[in-house]
Amino acid sequence: MGQEYSVFGLENPLFDRVAAVSDELVAAVGAPKGTMNLVDHAQMRRVLELARGFRSIPGGSAANTVRAVAALSRARAVPPPVYSGAVGCDPEGEEYGRILEAQGVVARLACKQEPTGCSVILVTPDRERTMFTFLGACREYTPADLDQGLLARSRYLYLTGYMWDTENQRQAALLAGSTALAEGVGVAFDLADPFAVRRYRRQYLSWIPAHVEVLFGNREEFRLLLGEGLADEELAGLAGELAPQAVLKIGAEGCLVNHFGRVTRVAGFPVTPVDTTAAGDCFAAGYLYGQLRGFPPELSARLANRLAAWIVTVVGCDLEGLDPAEVLKAAGE
Ligand SMILES: Nc1ncnc2c1ncn2[C@@H]1O[C@H](COP(=O)(O)OP(=O)(O)OP(=O)(O)O)[C@@H](O)[C@H]1O
Ligand SMILES: [Mg+2]
Repeated sequence: MGQEYSVFGLENPLFDRVAAVSDELVAAVGAPKGTMNLVDHAQMRRVLELARGFRSIPGGSAANTVRAVAALSRARAVPPPVYSGAVGCDPEGEEYGRILEAQGVVARLACKQEPTGCSVILVTPDRERTMFTFLGACREYTPADLDQGLLARSRYLYLTGYMWDTENQRQAALLAGSTALAEGVGVAFDLADPFAVRRYRRQYLSWIPAHVEVLFGNREEFRLLLGEGLADEELAGLAGELAPQAVLKIGAEGCLVNHFGRVTRVAGFPVTPVDTTAAGDCFAAGYLYGQLRGFPPELSARLANRLAAWIVTVVGCDLEGLDPAEVLKAAGE
């Protein structure tokens, strides 16, 4: 089993451009609040022009997760995480890799002719976020871009349902999954998006049980996957039939962990949310970091809740102000 790297994240490298806006502005753009909207380059530019005063932070779900693993590692080190995805051969793509490396992530970015992907995140006064995502170069990632040797030397592969959205990315995800399985690398998978579950439900239901060691999802995603109307305990119970560890996230209330058939409810940490961006991503980071440290699953889940509760108190997935030792202590390490 590889131990040279901790979490190998594979997904869509996106620059997040976060702006605080009014409800009226979101209505004017014409998107339902709280949704993730895929847009083309021109639409992305148009939303950016409306949303003045934005901040740029490297984003993309799995990149947030590995950055957060690296941030926790500052308190007590685990091997460095890796990140792979496709960016444009442009200044944004270069900057993206530079920032990840500076934050302790080994970046393995493929460089493509399309522009670097970007996600404009509009945060309304109710702290809800509405996203406009231009995937650009992300969509060009192919199986040939995957560094299988490096993956084989990692403890976990982490990827999300977003990889199923283009055929070549899906092929890359499948290759990563089978490589991980062959090399004894644990696969951690986040369902990531209710729309993806709607689209790829049958594919997930056949791929997950054969590959996934740790499965993450929120209530809506697990209901779409396993059955509408199911209560949390039932969902967590059924999710445990898909993977040895399954974690159901339930927002401010925390999560339910199914560890080899034993379901535990783990309470969240009360905070005043500012922006819920990256809650799920940091949750995965906390959980996987705990597993890397050999924590019992309930402690990993508490750390996941604690880190996720912290990230919703800042704008975007901005880990700069994180005190990892404090987070570990608050979780009860
Ligand atoms: N308002 C909140 N207060 C405290 N903790 C929160 C809050 N919202 C989310 N969290 C924490 O973040 C975790 C993940 O949030 P959530 O259940 O919304 O998952 P998600 O839908 O995958 O998130 P995301 O919107 O980032 O994809 C929760 O399990 C909880 O630990
Ligand atoms: Mg999520």
